[in-house]
Amino acid sequence: MTDNFLCMTTFQNTSIEQVRGYWDRRPCNLRHSPLPVGTRGYFDQVRERKYLVEPHIPAFADFPAWAGKRVLEIGCGMGTDTISFAQAGARVTAVDLSENSLKLARQRAQVYGLADRITFYHANAEQLGQIVPVEPYDLVYSFGVIHHTPHPERALAQLRAYVRPGGQVKIMVYHRRSWKVLGIVLAQGRGRFWQADRWIARHSEAQTGCPVTYTYTRHQGRKLLQDHGLRVTDLRVEHIFPYRIKDYVQYRYVKEWWFRCLPAAVFRGLEHRLGWHLCLTATTDA
Ligand SMILES: C[S@@+](CC[C@H](N)C(=O)[O-])C[C@H]1O[C@@H](n2cnc3c(N)ncnc32)[C@H](O)[C@@H]1O
Repeated sequence: MTDNFLCMTTFQNTSIEQVRGYWDRRPCNLRHSPLPVGTRGYFDQVRERKYLVEPHIPAFADFPAWAGKRVLEIGCGMGTDTISFAQAGARVTAVDLSENSLKLARQRAQVYGLADRITFYHANAEQLGQIVPVEPYDLVYSFGVIHHTPHPERALAQLRAYVRPGGQVKIMVYHRRSWKVLGIVLAQGRGRFWQADRWIARHSEAQTGCPVTYTYTRHQGRKLLQDHGLRVTDLRVEHIFPYRIKDYVQYRYVKEWWFRCLPAAVFRGLEHRLGWHLCLTATTDA
């Protein structure tokens, strides 16, 4: 068993069916556009909003670097990054647990004329090898996924087999020492830090009641990868959500007054210390 104390607490007995059900009910970023779901305009707006609100993603994923390379994406959701990899010229294998998310991702690949560059699989990352042929990939990428599965260490053990010698892994997991965690525990949990995991999971996503959300300190995130034979080459903390929710849900981007008062450089500094996204890049030693 991992020595990550978080994995010994709240979520180990949550079933994968609960996780699947949650993401099937509302695929990630489903309401990123008010346009009819599945249209080109809808998918364009989903992408625009995602990269507006999470502008660090293109820099982290570095889509152009994977032109002509093989990318395995674990937990593709409705395929925003999947499409970006394929548009940049990568051959992509994309996996998700949620059939409803995959349905949108497949449709999106058709809409953009990229279906021949992407192979989709409906699979549980914890049992990847049972569904997805084990082949060497230049990049194994997973953004915001591993912390939502009941046994993250099992998912890591699986995905390691898909990285070619000298290949890269890029994983984003949620950061424990973050502004977001502080906000959730103070506002929703009324300061009950001893129940933090439960409150974080309940309020980590746009749709309340996520069945599994682990969070990691820098040290724990690094160790999660190292324990599976991966050497972390870059670790950065990103992303504080600065917008007023009541405007954001109306597709208006008005920052909270306290963030408006901060000079941009100070806000970036705060993001690098207390951001919600722990972005890890690792490699196998060739
Ligand atoms: C927060 S969403 C992120 C989706 C996508 N990576 C993105 O950034 O838009 C989490 C995704 O992880 C998927 N997921 C959770 N547990 C999984 C598992 N064990 N195996 C495969 N996918 C999983 C969910 O179905 C969901 O689509």
